[in-house]
Amino acid sequence: MEFSGKLFIFLLLPLLQISTCDAYANPIYHSCSKNFTSDNLIQDSINKTLSSLLAKTPLDSFGISSFGDGFFTIFGLSQCRGNLTVEQCAPCITKAKEEIRTLCPNSAETRIWYDHCFLHYGTTKFFGEPDTSFTRVFSSGLIAADPYKFNYKLMDMVYRMNAMTVGMDEKFSMYATHVSKNLNIFATAQCTRDLEELACRQCLDKLSEIFSGYCKYHLDCYVLSSSCVLRYAVSEFLNLPVSLSPLVFAAGSD
Ligand SMILES: *[C@@H]1O[C@H](CO)[C@@H](O)[C@H](O)[C@H]1NC(C)=O
Ligand SMILES: *[C@@H]1O[C@H](CO)[C@@H](O)[C@H](O)[C@H]1NC(C)=O
Ligand SMILES: *[C@@H]1O[C@H](CO)[C@@H](O)[C@H](O)[C@H]1NC(C)=O
Repeated sequence: MEFSGKLFIFLLLPLLQISTCDAYANPIYHSCSKNFTSDNLIQDSINKTLSSLLAKTPLDSFGISSFGDGFFTIFGLSQCRGNLTVEQCAPCITKAKEEIRTLCPNSAETRIWYDHCFLHYGTTKFFGEPDTSFTRVFSSGLIAADPYKFNYKLMDMVYRMNAMTVGMDEKFSMYATHVSKNLNIFATAQCTRDLEELACRQCLDKLSEIFSGYCKYHLDCYVLSSSCVLRYAVSEFLNLPVSLSPLVFAAGSD
């Protein structure tokens, strides 16, 4: 029994409306790099880029912006998880903006991931590029009772889900597959919307590789990168607050 993405979304939509506020309370992960020493020009570019993203993102669940000249230019991107309402998207972007300034006050290159949204800014023009140089893997560590069957169903589903995701305008899809009596896998895939179909596919292919290694036999797993994320669990996690513990840090530079 497999649902098409649209049918699955149709079934889930009423539940998404009651999604909890906790979902964006704590970041899943963040990274800071390229420290600068009290440079007002960079600060100003960062501030303007963040303000612009804050204004744009909730309207369309996605925004890109850049401010500044030459060396002092900052490029920013923010995106909410697919199919969130403005009411769900806006608070997450606000929170991400505040949190990233607190966590990385002197960084010209930062990323922050929440269950509901993602925010990234930096000094190079990264728009359109599938960037998987930075990846992290999370899981509760629980292993499936029938690991071989579970893995087969999982990888088959990930393959179909990725194919569907790259073709969507939102670059987002949800999928569910039946493994055995009382055991279903729920999954989502999302690329940042600046990516074309091919770039999104390259990103998801890379994360699928990581999936097949680090997530093998696990009942839940979440892999993040700067350009796409993949996640699955055996419960409908989209409506639950995030509760993931670090499994392992996959290879990849920061
Ligand atoms: C950069 O800044 C962060 C936060 O202020 C600090 O924790 C980190 O040690 C700094 N890194 C370097 C290389 O100076
Ligand atoms: C940028 O914003 C921060 C935090 O809101 C503020 O402390 C800082 O003075 C601003 N810098 C510039 C150059 O506008
Ligand atoms: C998200 O919701 C919009 C509007 O309801 C819908 O058109 C779109 O197909 C949904 N996304 C997916 C991945 O199905």
